[in-house]
Amino acid sequence: MNDTGKTALIVGASRGLGYALTAEFLSRGWRVTATERTPSALHELAESAEGRLTVETVDITVPEQVAALRERLARSAFDLLYVNAGTNYTTDPSATVADVSTEDFARVMVTNVLSPLRVIETLQDLVRATGTIGVMSSGQGSIADNTKGGFEVYRASKSALNQLMRSFAARHADDPRTLLLMAPGWVKTELGGPGARLTIDESIPGVADTIEAYAGKGGLHYLDREGKTVNW
Ligand SMILES: NC(=O)c1ccc[n+]([C@@H]2O[C@H](COP(=O)([O-])OP(=O)(O)OC[C@H]3O[C@@H](n4cnc5c(N)ncnc54)[C@H](OP(=O)(O)O)[C@@H]3O)[C@@H](O)[C@H]2O)c1
Repeated sequence: MNDTGKTALIVGASRGLGYALTAEFLSRGWRVTATERTPSALHELAESAEGRLTVETVDITVPEQVAALRERLARSAFDLLYVNAGTNYTTDPSATVADVSTEDFARVMVTNVLSPLRVIETLQDLVRATGTIGVMSSGQGSIADNTKGGFEVYRASKSALNQLMRSFAARHADDPRTLLLMAPGWVKTELGGPGARLTIDESIPGVADTIEAYAGKGGLHYLDREGKTVNW
């Protein structure tokens, strides 16, 4: 595999879509730093990655750990920072806002909304001026497309994530870097469940294609895996 010299930092890559995105960029010749919370399959992947995968540790909900990661990566520069980490309720994921506990609501919001933005705020200066800052959002974050309800708190978390990225974009209006909110489709993972429409292999190559296609374009884009704009 040719080393393209491109570099990515993928946060939340121990399994599911983040792990697959890491493997996908490695297969495209990128150098990847990928994070886990506890030892994961990333270490086996690193063994076959010809030195192009570095494994780091961070829990995005612990600001001290995010700051420590920033310190460890102080001499790095990335073409892509991608925050993939996300969660759903521990109880029934179809619970409405009337059913969910305050504790579970807060956990989902802290993980899916506050923490990705904290990671971006803390690590964004490691991203090159020509680079991209992306987050794994969801089609469920679309307010305009929510005609059927369901997965209410998860949906609300991704809508709030999108809103905070818009605020970040507004605050950095002169920043040449590209900002992406990606909707990977409904995918069979632990979070997506076995009834999801797509396999990981049907989703992630398109997500990576879209990230690469938008490199250097600048601005904030809310996109699906085919590169089509999702209704806000
Ligand atoms: N699957 C879908 O249908 C779908 C659709 C749209 C969007 N998404 C989004 O895609 C992203 C990945 O989802 P997935 O389906 O791959 O889920 P998954 O298989 O459950 O994987 C979740 C990943 O996030 C990591 N993570 C969770 N909390 C974290 C924290 N506090 N700090 C650091 N890492 C953390 C997990 O690490 P551990 O192994 O340490 O738990 C794991 O690597 C999420 O943002 C999700 O909302 C998924």
